[in-house]
Amino acid sequence: MTDTLTLTRPDDWHLHLRDGAMLAAVLPDSARRFARAMVMPNLRPPVRSVTEAAAYRKRILAALPTGMSFDPLMALYLTDNTSAEEVALARACGFVQAVKYYPAGATTNSDFGVSAVERAYPAIAALEQQGLPLLVHGEATDPEVDVFDREAVFIDRVLAPLLKRFPKLKLVLEHVTTRQGIDFVRAGGANVAATITAHHLLYNRNAMFKGGIRPHYYCLPVLKREQHRQALVEAATSGSPKFFLGTDSAPHAQSAKECGSGCAGIYTAHAGIELYAEAFEAADALDKLEGFASIFGAAFYGLPRNSATLTLARTAWEVPAELGFGAGKLIPLRAGETVNWRILEP
Ligand code: DOR
Ligand code: ZN
Repeated sequence: MTDTLTLTRPDDWHLHLRDGAMLAAVLPDSARRFARAMVMPNLRPPVRSVTEAAAYRKRILAALPTGMSFDPLMALYLTDNTSAEEVALARACGFVQAVKYYPAGATTNSDFGVSAVERAYPAIAALEQQGLPLLVHGEATDPEVDVFDREAVFIDRVLAPLLKRFPKLKLVLEHVTTRQGIDFVRAGGANVAATITAHHLLYNRNAMFKGGIRPHYYCLPVLKREQHRQALVEAATSGSPKFFLGTDSAPHAQSAKECGSGCAGIYTAHAGIELYAEAFEAADALDKLEGFASIFGAAFYGLPRNSATLTLARTAWEVPAELGFGAGKLIPLRAGETVNWRILEP
């Protein structure tokens, strides 16, 4: 049995860092584990321009504790009004690596998102032309659609037609949660990929209801049936370069989660690589973790592989019951419970 595991330092291709005191609270968890992360732009107001992305990136770097290194890769927030010129500026600037498509109303801070995909065609055409990836929150927003079917319906109604229209578009189906999503990505060319979270690999929808309603297991897209979890595990551990790590670690204050209308989002950055090690070990596929966590994402984005390494040990540790989060508290995944792997500090 392997008791330690040394990997090329991993990257997190989907991360929410927030801003201000919350950013300062969560950033060290990611920087301790990941060399780079694709930073989501769903702030209030969202990060819509290269200028705003430059300013946000500066705030992230300013919040980084001395002695830590971390490269925030920025994603712009796509709106009905994103111009082809802004996409060209993004491509040229060197620190914006993608554009994020939130269907308006799909999730946290998505009100500025795309109201109808046709409205974003000029920007999407520019992305295809410039080779800049479009990262998609793939959920239908039609209130008639069952919450558990939103990904599959979005693929049929929006994503498949979009790829027909823009066949060379680099597209990442973010936080894929269903067998239909996996099949869609597998059927696409090398320009189509997906990120997979640790929580969708480790839990099915029963986790939200075990012994009572459990808000800290609520995220969007919502956890799905066991058969879908199994399809995700199969894809993540398959060695296919189309699937790579994106934690979607999404911190919200305890008070915003434990209330009548709780926010969607699961905080996992405190065990951002360790939880994946658990999921891969459970599938007897620890040998496939490095490709998924450290190699395939960088290759998709055309970025160099990290040269440093990270070592994990199979040593159980207890996750704190709560973490600081500016003025509030943050309840991390597995609060008060154990995680089976830990990182060894370099
Ligand atoms: O659960 C989620 N939380 N899903 C999202 O798409 C957004 C995220 C957030 O920003 O909190
Ligand atoms: Zn997200």
